[in-house]
Amino acid sequence: MTTLIVNIKELLQIRETPISKVSGAEMAALPTIKNAFLLIKDDLISDFGTMNNLPKIEVDKTIDASGKMVLPSWCDSHTHIVYAGNREQEFVDRINGLTYEEIANRGGGILNSAKKLNETSEDEIYNQSKERLEEIMQLGTGAVEIKSGYGLTVEGELKMLRVIKQLAQNYPITIKATFLGAHAFPTAFKDNKKGYIDLIINEMLPEIAKNKLADFIDVFCETGYFSVEETEQIMQAGIQFGLKPKIHVNQFNSIGGIQAGIKYNALSVDHLEIMKPDDIEALKETVTMPVALPSCSYFLSIPYTPAREMISAGLPLALATDFNPGTTPSGNMNFVVATACIKMKMTPEEAINAATINGAYAMGISQTHGSITKGKKANLIITKPIHSYYQLPYAFGSNLIDSVILDGILLD
Ligand code: NIG
Ligand code: FE
Repeated sequence: MTTLIVNIKELLQIRETPISKVSGAEMAALPTIKNAFLLIKDDLISDFGTMNNLPKIEVDKTIDASGKMVLPSWCDSHTHIVYAGNREQEFVDRINGLTYEEIANRGGGILNSAKKLNETSEDEIYNQSKERLEEIMQLGTGAVEIKSGYGLTVEGELKMLRVIKQLAQNYPITIKATFLGAHAFPTAFKDNKKGYIDLIINEMLPEIAKNKLADFIDVFCETGYFSVEETEQIMQAGIQFGLKPKIHVNQFNSIGGIQAGIKYNALSVDHLEIMKPDDIEALKETVTMPVALPSCSYFLSIPYTPAREMISAGLPLALATDFNPGTTPSGNMNFVVATACIKMKMTPEEAINAATINGAYAMGISQTHGSITKGKKANLIITKPIHSYYQLPYAFGSNLIDSVILDGILLD
């Protein structure tokens, strides 16, 4: 099956030679081709260039993209879209003055979602989660990482990971799975933290590895959740079972989680709302991608990741949604890109790099996703007619996506 897209006003995020990520000053540049074509063969990008070099070949399908732009699909490297029910009541409680911490301390928060998840059947969780997955596909996301972490029991965590696996089998969007058993201490282990960590290491991890249910291991390293020492212990165990760490750090407090992640070559450290100069320093020259989640800052009214300081220090940065029922009930990467520009003062070029190639890196898939490169996956966004790509973050509330291609096929 071959598809040719012609008359593309501007083709964005061109990388002739594959790159794995863009750092610091490089993030300011977004290579493009004006008046372009793009050729798809099966599920891969097979050629692209300017319209005057259009190859004279027979194709199965031609798409006229006059006035429209084409870019690689968003790569959302941090979500929790498999969950049961919602936390709308907590949302209203916060409007009425309670903080996220106060709500969590009275049994709300992650434990509230864990209760709902354990009471809901696997089929029902699948059905609720697929709605969210279908929504983000329409919003231009072509690769997504999904975490467990609302089970907090052996059965609950396995149930979530099986749902993620089933979604990956049934949908054309690329999915990576992360085991986040260390999301919170369940009520039953409130006074026996060691007991819960033993459960994660001795019961959950072997079963997950045996059934190949996860690619990565995550820990919520935060005051009141998992300490740095506990985080290190869990990362170490995950690595022994073949899972790379990708961890939640510095959401509310800077307690050394970044340094711990770096020590274990974490693929990414995510959240980073609270950053000390030492945290930025520690990330220099490492393999660890910093990931910002601006929709979470927006929804909780907490600080935004200091993107400018980090980029000035030469660091790369990725952007993701954090789609989850408690802190970010939104999986809209277009909003994330706009909010990064508006609130974090990232330029449109920086934000698009952060939401494509750097997001792909933070899921370990930048060799196949995140840029317009021959041989990469044909997961693409075709915009509506727009004046310039600045319009994507500028018109922050508008849906500027005309259509989406996943695995080389136009989505209905
Ligand atoms: O990334 N911070 C930890 N985990 C999630 C929120 C979990 C929840 O409140 O349900 C996050 O924001
Ligand atoms: Fe998260």
